[in-house]
Amino acid sequence: METQDPSDVAISIRGVSKRFGALEVLRGLDLEVPRGQVTTIIGGSGSGKSVLVKHIMGLLHPDQGAILVDGEDIVQMSERERTRVRAKFGMLFQHAALFDSMTVADNIAFPLREHTRLSRGEIDRRVEDKLDLLGLAGTGRKWPAELSGGMRKRVGLARALVTSPSFLIYDEPTTGLDPVLAKQVDEMIGETQERFGVTSIVISHDMASTFRLAHRIAMLWQGRIVIAADPQTVASSGVPQVDEFIRASGVRLESVRRPDAGARADA
Ligand SMILES: Nc1ncnc2c1ncn2[C@@H]1O[C@H](COP(=O)(O)OP(=O)(O)OP(=O)(O)O)[C@@H](O)[C@H]1O
Ligand SMILES: [Mg+2]
Repeated sequence: METQDPSDVAISIRGVSKRFGALEVLRGLDLEVPRGQVTTIIGGSGSGKSVLVKHIMGLLHPDQGAILVDGEDIVQMSERERTRVRAKFGMLFQHAALFDSMTVADNIAFPLREHTRLSRGEIDRRVEDKLDLLGLAGTGRKWPAELSGGMRKRVGLARALVTSPSFLIYDEPTTGLDPVLAKQVDEMIGETQERFGVTSIVISHDMASTFRLAHRIAMLWQGRIVIAADPQTVASSGVPQVDEFIRASGVRLESVRRPDAGARADA
């Protein structure tokens, strides 16, 4: 295996191809995900964003290529080894997919009960800790149906965080939320990343949110990454597909090109 600086690149995707029958979704895709930052993946509907993150989590197997997570190629691993690596990931699904028949606390405790041998007391302690952290104190005994959409998102995040993952993947976290809630979810992602140093991958259709949140933006187009760079570079790249995608989303390129107008200064 090649050596690399593990403190820098957390995930390295090399020449990954994937087809479903006649449909070539990923065509020799390369992408490096820097550690401890927010990388946002953008691209049209059906371009393969969800397929890509499923590969990163080892839920889909590529036809070709390597996927290095902390320097280990998960493509070459046994399923048992992959399960070990998968435990490094937390995932927040688009609709937060909570179990409706479980209380909020049981929802959050679920990954710990499934994947660890922690005592009941220790699990309760960790669940309480996450509830406090996400401003959900006192809701542990409620049912998901009793919560607002934004609270359900936070419960989903609490559940994704409870195992202390090194990686968090968010698949369209703000789709279907009103602008105020969407902004809250963005802030939650940013705070989570800053507080825990989690390497975060966000799939997003929301370009305004992307320019607020991302340290790095990667655009998927025709099975490859056409650009992967900091928001300023992406906004001024002049790559036609990229400009067109940003413009079509209603975000003015001029507004995101200025360093004081939204892109993170530390990006
Ligand atoms: N398991 C599968 N079997 C067959 N085709 C699949 C499978 N998963 C995804 N696809 C196809 O691969 C393509 C990419 O799908 P994917 O879900 O990754 O798109 P996406 O970029 O996430 O789109 P969206 O923004 O709408 O969520 C689509 O044409 C989809 O139908
Ligand atoms: Mg998708």
